[in-house]
Amino acid sequence: MSTTSALSAADLYADHLATLSDRTRTALERAGLDHLVIPSGTLHYQVFDDRDYPYAVNPQFKAWVPLTRNPGSWLVVTPGAKPKLIYLQPRDYWHVVPEAPSGYWVAHFDIVVIRKPEDAQQHLPKNAARCAILGEPQSALGQYGAYRPNNPQAVIDHLDYHRAFKTPYEIAMLREATRIAVGAHQAAERAFRAGASEFGIHLAYCQAAGQDANELPYNNIVALNTHAAVLHYTELGRLAPDPVHSFLIDAGASHAGYAADITRSYAHDTGSEFQAMIDAVDRAQRATCAQVRSGFDYKQLHLDAHLALSGVLRDFGVLRVSPEEALETGVSAAFFPHGIGHGIGLQVHDVAGFAASETGGTIAKPDGHPYLRLTRTLAPGMVVTIEPGVYFVDMLLEDLKAAGKGDAVDWDRVEAFRPYGGIRIEDNVVCTDDAPINLTRDAWDASAK
Ligand code: GLY
Ligand code: MN
Ligand code: MN
Repeated sequence: MSTTSALSAADLYADHLATLSDRTRTALERAGLDHLVIPSGTLHYQVFDDRDYPYAVNPQFKAWVPLTRNPGSWLVVTPGAKPKLIYLQPRDYWHVVPEAPSGYWVAHFDIVVIRKPEDAQQHLPKNAARCAILGEPQSALGQYGAYRPNNPQAVIDHLDYHRAFKTPYEIAMLREATRIAVGAHQAAERAFRAGASEFGIHLAYCQAAGQDANELPYNNIVALNTHAAVLHYTELGRLAPDPVHSFLIDAGASHAGYAADITRSYAHDTGSEFQAMIDAVDRAQRATCAQVRSGFDYKQLHLDAHLALSGVLRDFGVLRVSPEEALETGVSAAFFPHGIGHGIGLQVHDVAGFAASETGGTIAKPDGHPYLRLTRTLAPGMVVTIEPGVYFVDMLLEDLKAAGKGDAVDWDRVEAFRPYGGIRIEDNVVCTDDAPINLTRDAWDASAK
């Protein structure tokens, strides 16, 4: 991180903590409890083995502190008091242990360093029954698991609902995650143009991001040719296909616990009809990004994207029916079989996508659209992905024929596009009081300067 952004992170962080503290005060009042207690989480071991899985920090913990590699630590938040961080720094000569806490955030906490995980208990509030403890069961401490996470629903509902509204500090962290991911995407395209395999492209991506697979916010999707028709293709083939037609990469980056989630699609032959289809999806994607406006229903944005993508498929001769008919009959869903996007932040698929209110309730998905992950109305501070795609998935096309809807499709045109697999274009977009901020395109533009 540059000095300037480090300074601005420091400035923004105090306000971020004040916002979290306000949310916590209300959440605890709702639950009739006195303390919010959050374990960072523990290592998990493989069955019949002494190898641990990659550590994944409790997202409720990293919402407060930019620590993602500190199992066995705890946070205690008591309204009116300075928050306390119980920081595990084990005496261990087998592993590299966390360094002493440092950085812009430490002055905001009373920090107690402990050497053994069980020593955390003496620093927790004396009465566990007065605590909302948010975490995994395995974090339990104390006799008979007195400090076992109880995850009170009223507390989680309140905190998760509001987590959709990012603070300026969080937007700055998302911007930095995006900057890293965009540089890595550019390296990946160069590797693709140079003839690398999926595995080689993945390594070029990680090298440019400076992040190993376990540090990335999700497994890289690096798909050549028909592999792009597998929505979450993560196989990483060791040999490049011959000939190469297309490349789809869905890959992110992490920064201070926040995630970027970006997809780009490329034609090997930039003069091809497939390139023209990518360009058309790109125009539709930009138009959808422009709809990320306060008060707009994200469900409607998803349905509008179906119409726009069906329009593209019709223009390219793949569909024989109108966009409206394609949407109504479910034909469009065979080509665009996932949601238009989701909230993003501490988790790549952020929490509370269906939350009706801060006190609970669910906003249903539209009928026939089971994979939509966000049904809320957009409001300032929300950060969402916009990721329309069109794919040529044999299984779904067979289902379409079997359902007697084959006449809606020109199958010769499907055959022409099948070798390319599919197209997805994904940006991360901030809803504001005014025009949306496209973090991804901003980072791409800045990298060109
Ligand atoms: N990278 C997973 C997704 O786009 O949702
Ligand atoms: Mn996504
Ligand atoms: Mn993605």
